[in-house]
Amino acid sequence: MSEIKIPKKLIEVALPLDDINAAAAREKSIRHGHPSTLHLWWARRPLAAARAVIFAQMVNDPSETVSGDKRLRETKLKIQSEREKLFDIIRDLVKWENTNNEIVLNRARAAIKESWRFTCELNRSVPEASELFDPEKLPAFHDPFAGGGAIPLEAQRLGLQSFASDLNPVAVMINKAMIEIPPKFAGNKAIGPLIDSDNQSDLIDSWSGVKGLAEDVKRYGHVMREEAYKRIGYLYPKIEVTETMAASRADLKHLIGDKLTVIAWLWARTIPSPSPIYSHVNVPLASSFVISNKKGKEAYVEPVITGDSYEFVVKTGIPPTESKSGTKVGRGGILNVCYPRLQFLSN
Ligand SMILES: C[S@@+](CC[C@H](N)C(=O)[O-])C[C@H]1O[C@@H](n2cnc3c(N)ncnc32)[C@H](O)[C@@H]1O
Repeated sequence: MSEIKIPKKLIEVALPLDDINAAAAREKSIRHGHPSTLHLWWARRPLAAARAVIFAQMVNDPSETVSGDKRLRETKLKIQSEREKLFDIIRDLVKWENTNNEIVLNRARAAIKESWRFTCELNRSVPEASELFDPEKLPAFHDPFAGGGAIPLEAQRLGLQSFASDLNPVAVMINKAMIEIPPKFAGNKAIGPLIDSDNQSDLIDSWSGVKGLAEDVKRYGHVMREEAYKRIGYLYPKIEVTETMAASRADLKHLIGDKLTVIAWLWARTIPSPSPIYSHVNVPLASSFVISNKKGKEAYVEPVITGDSYEFVVKTGIPPTESKSGTKVGRGGILNVCYPRLQFLSN
């Protein structure tokens, strides 16, 4: 029985590591809007590194494919120059700007196919060759610990049939959304109801790739948002800026009378005051009353107490020390008495 021959792969010999590292580091700061930022999976591989590594695992090292006497300088130089060509493909592949560049991707896909054909030829006489070494059918890619899906996504991009699985159902959902579902809709045009304010002119002629699916996600997302607003929007009322509010907030003066959408609600658990006199009052547990410490944008909330009730007022400017301590000690939710303005509630 003839043995399976596995030519040495590029990854076993050399890689343009500096280029891959630089692209992987850069990717972190420029991938805004990419699905990988929707849910930050732990230890997710940079797409650039995944793409480079899969490519280097799929292509044969030229020392295996270049013919000639390997002891001769001429052959060595030829091998080196062929290896450089593969490095150049990797250098282009890892650039974020080339993520969807079909010219760059096609060069990589062609190199992978060429290596595969070479491997199939080597194994022509293996008994299961027709099943295992079909030059027209690249081996499938399997990632049983797919997590955020970087590796199977890049395998798919390089032309391999990709299978991803994971123990964690959230990871499975990410992989379904990123790898399994989009190809089913490739080339389809969007069918969702048009959003009135949208300018569709740039899409009308081209529904290539998954543009139609992406557009439908946007359109139906809009439908869901409108419906949610109809049903529960009243729970999120706009806030009218009053003169009283603006009295201590110069930044609100020009907005008096305007109704503004609230962009953040700060929630705090409450517990009955440990003070017997105020046990009917629920006291918030907050580790700090500071909203923002950012230089020039400092803000905090100050409790205003009237009798046995209180409300919070948002203030801008450097937070006083007392607002930094909040009302809570540690994670256990024990009321801290060091916040003087609320102290009366816990005496
Ligand atoms: C480091 S993460 C993988 C990250 C992934 N390569 C990426 O780029 O996003 C490891 C994954 O292995 C999964 N895992 C751990 N033990 C497993 C098991 N026994 N079977 C399947 N998946 C498992 C975890 O849920 C996790 O998603």
